[in-house]
Amino acid sequence: MTDRVSPEGIARNGVMPRVHGHVSRGPTLPRSSPLFAGRFGRIFRALPPADFGPNDDCSREALMRLGTKMVADRDPEEPEDGPDAEESGIPAAYTYLGQFIDHDLTFDPASSLQRQNDPEALVNFRTPRFDLDNVYGRGPDDQPYLYKDGRTFLLGKRLSGSALGQALVARDLPRNSAKDVHKNLHARAIIGDPRNDENVIVSQLQGLFLRFHNRLAADNPDWTFLEVQRAVRLHYQWIVVNDFLPRIVSESVLNEVLPHLGNGTNVRKDPPKLTFYTVRNQIFMPLEFSVAAYRFGHSMVRPGYRLNDDIGPLSIFTPMDVGDAATDGPRRTLVGFDQIPSGWAIDWARFIELKARPYGDSNDKRNPGNRQRMQLAYKIDTSLADPLRSLPQSVVSDPPLNLAQRNLLRGWMLRLPSGQDVARAIGVDVLDDKDILIGKFTGKNEDIKGSITEFGDPEFQRNCPLWAYILAETRTRTKTETEPVLRTVKTSNGDKQIPTPLLGAVGGRIVAETFAGILNGDNTSYFNVDPLWTPFSDLTDDGQFRLKDLIAYALEDGLT
Ligand code: HEM
Repeated sequence: MTDRVSPEGIARNGVMPRVHGHVSRGPTLPRSSPLFAGRFGRIFRALPPADFGPNDDCSREALMRLGTKMVADRDPEEPEDGPDAEESGIPAAYTYLGQFIDHDLTFDPASSLQRQNDPEALVNFRTPRFDLDNVYGRGPDDQPYLYKDGRTFLLGKRLSGSALGQALVARDLPRNSAKDVHKNLHARAIIGDPRNDENVIVSQLQGLFLRFHNRLAADNPDWTFLEVQRAVRLHYQWIVVNDFLPRIVSESVLNEVLPHLGNGTNVRKDPPKLTFYTVRNQIFMPLEFSVAAYRFGHSMVRPGYRLNDDIGPLSIFTPMDVGDAATDGPRRTLVGFDQIPSGWAIDWARFIELKARPYGDSNDKRNPGNRQRMQLAYKIDTSLADPLRSLPQSVVSDPPLNLAQRNLLRGWMLRLPSGQDVARAIGVDVLDDKDILIGKFTGKNEDIKGSITEFGDPEFQRNCPLWAYILAETRTRTKTETEPVLRTVKTSNGDKQIPTPLLGAVGGRIVAETFAGILNGDNTSYFNVDPLWTPFSDLTDDGQFRLKDLIAYALEDGLT
């Protein structure tokens, strides 16, 4: 056996991601590395790593074949407006909130120089927290170029567009002025984490967090920077726990880990119950989370999105996006890392429930609601949208370009156990091979390609890669919750009930325990500093505070 976790091993296997997929040093280190006591670690340390063949080459080839099956057969050449059967009841904005959260947890704001000079700080800086370091960077003293006046953020150039005929006003992120098409130079965003400019949607979401901070600062002129930052962080943590998690994790699993959610109380009265994510010294990033469970979000990505009345639907990217944001010609995809075209302001009601929009009609291409509707995330299932079969160079620099293959290979190289072994360790029913289905969970038989063992790879019998297992589990979730969850989407044509697969006994448990464990172990989170804290009442109209309320407040910041 070769040493699959050494950096050399990964390079030899040809998987060396950048940008959002940028691998921090942690996951590529051998298991014995002292850094596993730091930021990266394992929840199920005692379980054996899963292999998928008699030798490494066989395992790699089996995973490559499975990865090919886990991407949808070619969707329509161009994304289309209107409902489709792969949609869940989760508004599309949550896909990019998910990506944004990933960048918050996995970002390391310490410079390499600092790391060399201060090895102790390495461990501290690398601790994952819900602290928005992807927004704040190292703060106004250390990175003053992110800030306007030491208290508020700089914003970028004006963006425009229209929504149902009404003018939209927004701003791009602040950017450098290095753009030069002939020298292949890009106008890079000057933000706390460059990965939040990977695509036009996460980029504009980052912009909204800057504006949320700026508006809180404007509405509370006597607050210091630190007071504003604290309020932003607590509202964000509230959304993560009370809005994001219940959207993606099965209710019974979530309530076991965070009983205060089901009981309508708070974490002081009903503290989190952490059975598997145990912290010995300090909070850490579990590989079962970052390399398997939390990659569920890849299946929520749609092939494309409409941004406003005039722009879209555009593909999230195409293989031709060779970092080509630096062209003079019209942009054809939503790939980021460069100045956003001026007419590309996002109409956020197309991404989240700001206002009820028409539902549209998939049988009538001319139905005007198709162009006006709120777009929904794709279902969490064992199928990725077609553009993820071939990631552009601006996103990854080496093969394989297929994101499903990358996820499967990464999990194997980092010696993750099988899904079945993790299910047994958790003490829940193990999925039968015949129930590990690969395809779209639309409820239509023709959208399922088969069970994992029907593709001719006996290595997957009772031995499913953890990422694939967690996605397959969303069909049934737990032994007792086998009926599809229906989520209500309010539209101007009435409520629509949409089947919405959710993370279950294994995937939901890993995600919920990791989130709860990080918040619990962070002495600056609201779980610890103010467990009875609730969001400001004037930021919401129904007593709840959700991502839509943060967005609505940020949008009304008087930008002109
Ligand atoms: C257009 C959207 C997205 C693209 C193009 C994308 C692409 C990638 C790539 C290329 C990797 C590295 C794969 C590897 O080599 O191991 C990665 C890693 C990862 N992705 Fe995504 N991703 C997207 C959205 C999301 C979403 C919505 C989530 C979660 C809700 C997510 C969670 C993760 C996690 C946890 C990792 C591993 C940690 C990291 O490197 O940040 N991604 N993604």
